[in-house]
Amino acid sequence: MTAAELARRAEATARDGRAAIEAASTLDELDEAERQFLGKSSPLHDVREAIKSVDGADRATVGKALAAARSALEAAHAERRETLEQDAAAEAATRDRLDLTLPPREYRRGHLHPVTRIWRELEDVFVGMGYKVAEGPEVELDWYNFEALNFPPGHPARAMQDTLYVRLGDSEEVLLRTHTSPVQVRVMEAQRPPIYVVAPGRVFRRDTLDARHSPVFHQIEGLAVDRGITLGDLLGTVEAFIHALFGPDIQARFLPSFFPFTEPSVEFAMSCVFCRGSGCTVCSRTGWIELGGAGMVDPEVLKNVGIDPEEYTGFAFGFGIDRLVQLLYGVDHVKNLWDGDARFAGQF
Ligand code: FA5
Repeated sequence: MTAAELARRAEATARDGRAAIEAASTLDELDEAERQFLGKSSPLHDVREAIKSVDGADRATVGKALAAARSALEAAHAERRETLEQDAAAEAATRDRLDLTLPPREYRRGHLHPVTRIWRELEDVFVGMGYKVAEGPEVELDWYNFEALNFPPGHPARAMQDTLYVRLGDSEEVLLRTHTSPVQVRVMEAQRPPIYVVAPGRVFRRDTLDARHSPVFHQIEGLAVDRGITLGDLLGTVEAFIHALFGPDIQARFLPSFFPFTEPSVEFAMSCVFCRGSGCTVCSRTGWIELGGAGMVDPEVLKNVGIDPEEYTGFAFGFGIDRLVQLLYGVDHVKNLWDGDARFAGQF
């Protein structure tokens, strides 16, 4: 190509390039135009390469045309970039604008779930009586849930608590605890008497869901081990907590029962808080509301954890928190407590 042709090529590239740069409506399109007209594959690059083959005297002509084309494109590019950047900033400012004059969203204050509330009230009552709060794992060993509590393998009382086993360790060695009683064993292993603890927590059974049974529910366990503890202390303690929670007019009642880890064992109930004992639908016209089980800690259980039953005696009790909440708040089906509907929880 002659020097004149090369110079014309440079001018044409500058013209086309400027048109492309000015037509770019986004920063991406501008980058593309820059690559095409100022980059390595641009016609200007070819012109520069071709300069070598031009006679010395004409080189200056081509060189000048090349430099003019380059600086024209660079100036157009810089100008367009500034405009596009300003547009983008203005658009972002509009998009992200915070309208401080808009009214706020409706503000609704939350509160504790009724089961959490009663759980904490129970803790407060027992802490007020000098008890400490203890915890144990929800995934438990057979030893703590059953064996140390006098449920040997195959014992019929195990069948009363349909168990959910976890595939871990030996077969049927690890399970979801079926009651809070294993915490008794853990506490007695870890500390020496005097022991006064309550252990609220979540428990699991292979129970079919119905109005009063859920496969996941909550219990609170109580344990006292000291010198000279008697059945009278158990009865007095249960009565004291019922009075603290429901008032002095509510009575406690005890009936003989059986649990493998207490001897003697009792079931305890309170007089109905709704009809005050005269009989209504809540208490199935009996005047009494069943709460849970209790008894004197079996000497075998004390021996299992290395506490001398000749020196120390103890009592234990346990009952369902969900069931109590159902009664107190008139919740007809236990699933209402747990299906996560804020409209339900918001009523309490
Ligand atoms: C026990 O679980 C014993 N560990 C209680 C105990 C502790 C006795 C200490 C002696 C000494 P039981 O299986 O009866 O006992 O359950 C106690 C309470 O848990 C019941 O009275 C009931 O209120 C509650 N409960 C049992 N199963 C369910 C369920 N599926 N859903 C909701 N609550 C339940």
